[in-house]
Amino acid sequence: MVKLRINGVEQSFDGDPDTPLLWFVRDELGLNGTKYGCGVGLCGACTVHLDGVAVRGCLTTVAEAAGKSVTTIEGLSPDGSHRVQIAWRELNVPQCGFCQSGQIMQAAAMLEANPNPTDQEILEGMQGNVCRCGCYQRIVSAVRHAST
Ligand code: FES
Repeated sequence: MVKLRINGVEQSFDGDPDTPLLWFVRDELGLNGTKYGCGVGLCGACTVHLDGVAVRGCLTTVAEAAGKSVTTIEGLSPDGSHRVQIAWRELNVPQCGFCQSGQIMQAAAMLEANPNPTDQEILEGMQGNVCRCGCYQRIVSAVRHAST
């Protein structure tokens, strides 16, 4: 049995420890804000935090999260008041919205590590998160907005 903390709550998982964290949070815990896009680490839709670091939920196994703290979009802020979420709303970033929880989780972790990134650092930090609607300019603007 694997024990881990998700959004501040102790959880245990007694299935295959190689199960991707993405499926545990979505299918077992019903935290479906974390999205399945590509399943192979290329799109970033499944981004969650593992001990504060952005990771791909589709590539991170439950076993790798054992004893660690996982944060999903639902746990980033209980009322949507994280500075990145506020910036996302103020700048109307999403179009279809599918990739946005992953984008926000990536941005939040990046700003935790580097509170005042340059535009180049924002581009580099967000480059692994794909948006099919092409909202990249608004994403960069919102990260910059959240950093000020
Ligand atoms: Fe995990 Fe695309 S679903 S990176």
